[in-house]
Amino acid sequence: MTDSTVTDAAAAPVLVLNGPNLGRLGSREPDIYGHLDHTGLTERVHRWAAELGLEVDVRQTDDETELVHWLHEAVDAGADVVLNPAAFTHYSYALRDAAAQVTTAGLRLVEVHLTNPATRETFRHTSVISGVATGTIAGFGAASYRLALSALVGSQND
Ligand code: DQA
Repeated sequence: MTDSTVTDAAAAPVLVLNGPNLGRLGSREPDIYGHLDHTGLTERVHRWAAELGLEVDVRQTDDETELVHWLHEAVDAGADVVLNPAAFTHYSYALRDAAAQVTTAGLRLVEVHLTNPATRETFRHTSVISGVATGTIAGFGAASYRLALSALVGSQND
């Protein structure tokens, strides 16, 4: 990889993409997902990114099609992705195929979860995304996103 490739890759803001029902954080099952709402999560992600010297673009949608299109956008822009696919994690082959395009393009995609799905209902034990992700971070609440961003920085020059 040339120096200019590294510079170009670093220039595209990391897309931080949140799937269905994550816009309801704060009021949605707070015993499981905590009291931080999506606006608060977005603010924290921006702060952590700034501390790490990253630019981020944080988005949320309940719409599978929109999420797929955002992953296409990441490929075209050369952007790394932090993705919380929410319930799509467990069954969306369309999202998996879109995520695979990110990683086969040589970009990084970190799958994140607030909770640890492996400790929850059986249907959450399957992730159709993990097999095409660069890595997965789950179970640390909002800090899962901070860990995902640091993983991107930590592996940037490898
Ligand atoms: C989640 C876990 C999923 O099982 C669930 O459907 C979500 C949130 C998490 O962040 O812990 O909506 O992705």
